[in-house]
Amino acid sequence: MVTVLSPRPDLWTLDPDVLHLNHGSYGAVPRRTQDLMAALRAETDANPMLWFRSVAARLAASRLDLASYLQTDPEGFALVPNASAGVTAALATLPIPAGSRIVLTNHAYGAVRYAAERFARATQAEVVVVDVPLEADDETVVSLIAAALDEASILIVDQISSATAMVFPIAALVDACRDRGVAIVVDGAHAPGLIDAPAADGADFWTGNFHKWPASPRATAGLVVAEKWRTATLPLIVSWSEYDERLPERFDMQGTFDYVPWIAAPESLRVLEELDWPVRRSQLSDLVDEGARVVAKALGTGIAEVVRPAATMRLVELPRSVDLTHVEAFKMRVSREQKAEITLTGFDERIFIRLSAHAYNSLADYESLAERLPALL
Ligand SMILES: Cc1ncc(COP(=O)(O)O)c(C=O)c1O
Repeated sequence: MVTVLSPRPDLWTLDPDVLHLNHGSYGAVPRRTQDLMAALRAETDANPMLWFRSVAARLAASRLDLASYLQTDPEGFALVPNASAGVTAALATLPIPAGSRIVLTNHAYGAVRYAAERFARATQAEVVVVDVPLEADDETVVSLIAAALDEASILIVDQISSATAMVFPIAALVDACRDRGVAIVVDGAHAPGLIDAPAADGADFWTGNFHKWPASPRATAGLVVAEKWRTATLPLIVSWSEYDERLPERFDMQGTFDYVPWIAAPESLRVLEELDWPVRRSQLSDLVDEGARVVAKALGTGIAEVVRPAATMRLVELPRSVDLTHVEAFKMRVSREQKAEITLTGFDERIFIRLSAHAYNSLADYESLAERLPALL
């Protein structure tokens, strides 16, 4: 018999008067991890000198836990504040010959595209964006991207895209890049918690956020670096560990900095373990499927035809009657007038509500959203 796990909003401190249906953007930290952070901050301020002397050892322990969660080699795993920093550090390391291409897709996160543009400007390279349709299957994704890799120095690709919540075939893309001598940077911002061993495909660089699905404190992310780049990869902030030969330690020391989130992050992994995460994730996937159907029905629209959707996110189309120029205003009205937190994403001139499901959500949340939204259309 299949056990159906009950929703556990009691483990979080989320405002019960609000519908929280967008875990995907900024996550949500369980109460237990918040308590640990508060205790660590109290310890810091009881004796800052003692605290900062203890940080190196605590970071080393935390890094081991986080690397083990990703099932990756701890010697190639560094802490970074977020996926944006991970992508930036990768681009700062990889050679980008003048005239070469940095290739992305039209699913890429906007800020990641800006990073590619900044490095392309500095090196006289060119950013090339490959159009990948929303309904593309893995084979189509690989063939469209592979066709753009001539003259490329780097491919930056999402493991799970933000705007379209789509899972990309990373192993095949790594192979395609390797065959052509192109470096591959995997933007796995959404991958930890949603994909097991997300950094295992052998990309040159992989980065992912612990502050999304693993519910760790914000500003906790990882950068996994292939062996050949480990010596050359430097943290974005130059500090005392600049000449440390070990990659993880080089990234640990970022000057005077709030190390509490990095040290407390494994506590959330323990919460997820106690929540029976792999089973729960599969149930959350069914939940968000059902939730998306309920919301789409109320809006008279449909669910995006993504072939491989992220485990815990779905896109529900907004009616075309919603003026695309007022998307931000619409989101604010949903928040203020309907007390619901959602995000809207745009792709190919279509606007979607990207719904999330985490352990604190239940079907009643989506039913309630379905009742509230039509009033705003
Ligand atoms: C695919 C993708 N890449 C990068 C980022 C940036 O993450 P961060 O703001 O933690 O740097 C996000 C954030 O949502 C994302 O979804």
